Order: sequence, then structure tokens, then C-alpha cells
Amino acid sequence: MSISLRKYIFVVLGIIAISFSCSDDGISNDTNDDSTYQDIIDPVLKINLSALPDYANQDVPNYITRDNTNGNPITDEGATLGRVLFYDKNLSVDNSIACATCHKQEIAFADTGRFSEGINGFTERTSMRLVNNRFSEEFRYFWDERAISLEEQSILPIQDHIEMGFTGENGNPGFPELILKLESLEYYKVLFEITFGDEMITRERMQLALSQFVRSIQSFDSKYDEGRAMVQSDGPDFPNFTEAENKGKDLFMRHTQFNMQGVRVSGGVACAICHQPPEFSIVPDSKNNGNLFVEDQNSDLDLTNTKSPSLRDFLDKNGNINGGFAMHNGAFNSVNEVLEHYNEIPDSFQGHVFGSIDQRLKAFNNPQKLNMTAIEKQQLIAFLKTLTGQDVYINEKWSDPFKD
Ligand code: HEC
Ligand code: HEC
Repeated sequence: MSISLRKYIFVVLGIIAISFSCSDDGISNDTNDDSTYQDIIDPVLKINLSALPDYANQDVPNYITRDNTNGNPITDEGATLGRVLFYDKNLSVDNSIACATCHKQEIAFADTGRFSEGINGFTERTSMRLVNNRFSEEFRYFWDERAISLEEQSILPIQDHIEMGFTGENGNPGFPELILKLESLEYYKVLFEITFGDEMITRERMQLALSQFVRSIQSFDSKYDEGRAMVQSDGPDFPNFTEAENKGKDLFMRHTQFNMQGVRVSGGVACAICHQPPEFSIVPDSKNNGNLFVEDQNSDLDLTNTKSPSLRDFLDKNGNINGGFAMHNGAFNSVNEVLEHYNEIPDSFQGHVFGSIDQRLKAFNNPQKLNMTAIEKQQLIAFLKTLTGQDVYINEKWSDPFKD
């Protein structure tokens, strides 16, 4: 058979195949079924399958080096599935609570209020911002670092009695029932198919997708970033900063000189030794910072909390704390109170001595007294405000994808 004849037959066969697939369902089908899939998505979700937002290849500044992606790289499809799961109230037993109920985009994915309301009451700790979770040397999650990875963390709220309720205990539905529930929702067939190649819903796939979405939430358009890009390190003054902001930066970064009583006599206030720039994520070996947990009913001291979210976007653009409360117990509701805490670290409470306080907050075995002046506090606050970005609060790709 001549080459041209062979080509001719292939073309004819091709035409037959195309017309056959069209007459199949009456919908003009392209090869990857986008249009039929889109028809399933459209009634429920504001997602265009042929133009997914960019999650996989977002710009990350070259001075950012810490990354805990750890074998679960972000794909546009996986993060899209994660986004839908994150905003889906079907993940709670009574269809009233989504991850996003306690992690609100407009306040850096924190919650309003000291504690968060789940399906069966209030959480014991304050909700955490979910900004730049990927960019951290610490790969453990929660205030007390009890989850050994984001993948492990991502489904624990679903199984928590207070939060979303799929505990599988005391007659409550568990994960198998949740999977059956999600299997009855057509849009998940499409989203699992485009992410993993088939419709199967598993716990592991949910972990991968939720983690990809959470890791995709990034914020690098702050005044700090603008300045940091102009210089080689955090040391020199940033050209775009005011004098107060540069002084505050210097206080944050520089080591402290103490006298034998643990009182600062010169130098900076060294927040950077634990809240590591340029990510401002917590050092992995941090101990507690002397902030107690005193519940009215039991006066328990809870000093197991050694993680802080990144200090990026801790403050909103007006200088208020995103969500209103700082620390695992929401002990402080202004940045001034936070600075007062570090200014004079307590070392005992009702006779209990806090042996577990991080040594970096002690000098000569005395809890630190920073002796910050009012002006120094203002400078430090001016600097903390430069860590706040803009896009993360409004970008549609991290917003609610549901139509109603
Ligand atoms: C009822 C409110 C509530 C719901 C629902 C909820 N969270 Fe949280 N989230 C919290 C609280 C409170 C914490 C801090 C808990 C702790 O440390 O014990 C937290 C912590 C986290 C952290 C840890 C961040 C860090 O830096 O260590 C991540 C990640 C997270 N949540 C993601 C999710 C995801 C994903 C979902 C949905 C599957 C979800 N959350 C549902 C309230 C909630
Ligand atoms: C020993 C390490 C260490 C040092 C030094 C340190 N911190 Fe912290 N920081 C922590 C830990 C641990 C937490 C979480 C503690 C908790 O919730 O009980 C935290 C929490 C915070 C929070 C609350 C974050 C949130 O999301 O609620 C702010 C703000 C903060 N630190 C600012 C500072 C500033 C400003 C300095 C310098 C004056 C500083 N820190 C020095 C370890 C440290």
C-alpha cells in the first residue's frame, strides 16, 4: 500500500470516529471530555475546567528557600479539588460546617473570635491562619505540633467530634460513610477523575488534595517583600521603608545583650531567632513561649504549644490582628499585648515554675525583660505591619467555588 493511500484511509477512519463520538451523546465532545464534565460542574460550582487557576506554578521570590512540600507537589487539578473540599459543608455530619467556616479568606484564613464553633460546640484552641504553610522548616502542624505532616493534619478536623463530626465512634458516622456521601455527589466524580485519573474517592486522595490547596495559599506581595527584593539580606535598611519600619526591622532581627538579671541593656529584641525570616515561620525546635492556658474551670497549664503560624499577615492592613486574637489560647487581642508578653516573660503561675520555657526567652536562667521603650514598641509594630500582603485576601482562586 502506498503511503498516500494509507494516509487517506487513516483520515477517513478518523472522520468516521469523530462523527461516531458526536452522535454518541449529542454533545460536541472534545478528546478530554471537558464539555460533558463542565455540564456536571456548572450547576454547582464556579469552576471552568478548561481554564483552572494557576496553583502549581505561582511565583515564589528567590529568597524564599524553606519548603515542606515533601512528595506531594501542587497540581492545578489537585488544588482545585482541595478547594472544593475545603469549602464543602458536606464534610460535616450535619452539612453546616466547612473548613472555610473556621478559616476565612478575608482574614488570612483565621476565624473571628477567640474559639471556633464546630458542629458540637467550641474548639479548645484558637483557629490558625493558613498563609504560607508550605514555606516553613517546621513540617508539623497544629499549635502543639501533634500532626506530623500537613497530609495527616488535613483530615483530622473532619473526624473531630467538636469540629465536623465524622468520628466513627458512639454511633456517629465515620470516614467510610463520608466517602459514600461524597460518592453520591456528581461533581466529585469529575474532580477526582481529572486529578487522579479515575473517580475513586479515598481518604488518602482527600489528604493529598486538601494539602495541595492549603499549601497553595501564599502571600508574597507585602511591603517587606518589595523591600527585601531590593537588597541582598535582611540586614541593611530597606530603601522603601520608613525610618520607623527600618528601626523595627532591626529590633526584630538583632540579638539582645542582657545583664545577669535577664534585663536587656542593649541590642535588638531577637524575635527572628524563633520566627525565622524571610518566611517568618517558626523554628522547628521552639519550646513554649511562656504563654499559659488558664481555663476558668480547671486552671490547667497548657505549655505544650510550641508552634506559631507564620507572622506574615498576622496583622490586617489596619494593624489589627486578623481574626482578633493571638496565641493558641487567644490570650491577647492586640499586638500591644503580645509585645507586653515578650517584654516581661512570666516564669511561674500560682506556684508552678515553667521549666519548659524556651531558653531563647531566658538570660542567665532568668526570664527575659526586654525593657522596650514606647517608641521601640511602635517601631516593632510598624515593622510587623509591613509583613501583610494584599492578594491572598481577595484572589478568587482561594475563594468559595460554590454557586449558592
Ligand atoms: C470548627 C472549626 C474548624 C474547622 C471546621 C476546621 N478547622 Fe482547621 N483549625 C481550627 C483550629 C481551632 C485549629 C488549631 C487547633 C489546634 O492546634 O489544636 C486549626 C488548625 C488548622 C491547621 C494547622 C495550621 C498550622 O500552622 O499548624 C490547618 C492546616 C487546618 N486547621 C486546616 C483545616 C482544614 C483543611 C479543615 C477542613 C478539613 C479545617 N482546618 C477545619 C479550626 C477549625
Ligand atoms: C523562643 C522562641 C520565640 C521567640 C524568641 C519569640 N517568639 Fe513569638 N511565638 C513563639 C511561639 C512558640 C508562639 C506560639 C505560642 C502560643 O500560642 O502559646 C509564638 C507566638 C507569637 C505570636 C502569635 C501568633 C499568632 O498567630 O497568634 C506573635 C504575634 C509573636 N509570637 C510575635 C513575636 C515577637 C514580636 C517576638 C519578639 C519580641 C517573638 N514573637 C519572639 C516563639 C517565639
